[in-house]
Amino acid sequence: MANELKFLPVDEDEFKQNNSLFDRPSNPIGEVQLESTGALITKHYVLSAEKISQMEVRPDDVWVISLPRSGTTLAEEMIWLLNNNLDFEKAKAQNLSKRFMFLELVAKMKFFKGAGEFDDLDAINRAPSPRHIKSHLPLELLPKQLVGAVKPKIFYICRNPKDIAVSQFHFFQMLYRFKGTFDDFAKLFLNEKMNYQPFWSHVNAFWELSKTHPNIKMISYEAMNQNLSEVIQDVSKFLNKSVTVDDLEKLKVHLSFDNMKQNPCINKQEQFLRNKIVNEPKDVQFLRKGEINEWKKTMSPEIVELFDKWIEKNTKNSDVDTLFR
Ligand code: A3P
Repeated sequence: MANELKFLPVDEDEFKQNNSLFDRPSNPIGEVQLESTGALITKHYVLSAEKISQMEVRPDDVWVISLPRSGTTLAEEMIWLLNNNLDFEKAKAQNLSKRFMFLELVAKMKFFKGAGEFDDLDAINRAPSPRHIKSHLPLELLPKQLVGAVKPKIFYICRNPKDIAVSQFHFFQMLYRFKGTFDDFAKLFLNEKMNYQPFWSHVNAFWELSKTHPNIKMISYEAMNQNLSEVIQDVSKFLNKSVTVDDLEKLKVHLSFDNMKQNPCINKQEQFLRNKIVNEPKDVQFLRKGEINEWKKTMSPEIVELFDKWIEKNTKNSDVDTLFR
């Protein structure tokens, strides 16, 4: 099979400068970019890029695609439970990362100690159906079979980019020891220097596909946060499952921020402490605030203006911004 994915290194000096804001060898700044679209990813990922692109997709797969900190985990737990007849016992007994396999984790993270504890690509290929797979990759790096005749169920989780930036800033302080200010981080985000960016083409690709592909469903963090009952009903219909009023209430309690934060199968406390990402249980903030519009309280007017200009420029000919309202 001819290699179709060509990657080019990003500017070395700029990369070094951006990378110096992080105190861990593995960082979220893109090292290479796909020649055709500019999608950013780590150098290590290139070794697996073709294997992922050629991967076999199954019709009964359930995929969750998102940019990091969009509410992926909340969506995964909801979708897994709805697709597994609300088997709360199993959900409480097995780590979510085992139930919902992270497609590119090992491919991307050369330095991430303990990455092998997660299922790698071969394990995903061997996993029994129905598989539940999560990825942050943009469409052009995902398996080609994802869009086409196979028609697996695909959920794309989106969130207001201002809140994604706030959430990523805090998350990367913990995970990659980001040393800069929020404004430093916002500029990296707005200049599209992070892995998986550019932002708008990531979201737009699925938004446009969802208009003509009934097997693709968009879910916003804002909707999950403000009207979880409606989202649960919508998702269960999409998965051809029925939920009783009682089920719905139980699921909402299970998915509440406080419950999920205490849930060891979700909160990553054990993994983050074992891998010395943090030293104290209280410092594991994988579930952090769980709010919408936190940006209004934390962003300076100058940064809000930069975001607004960036949003305006990138949504001129699109209705994609309606997703986050
Ligand atoms: P904040 O950092 O704004 O709190 P992802 O799973 O894609 O990494 O997204 C993480 C974001 O979703 C975090 O946002 C996290 O707190 C939030 N989140 C996770 N579970 C949640 C829940 N049950 N209810 C509300 N927000 C949740």
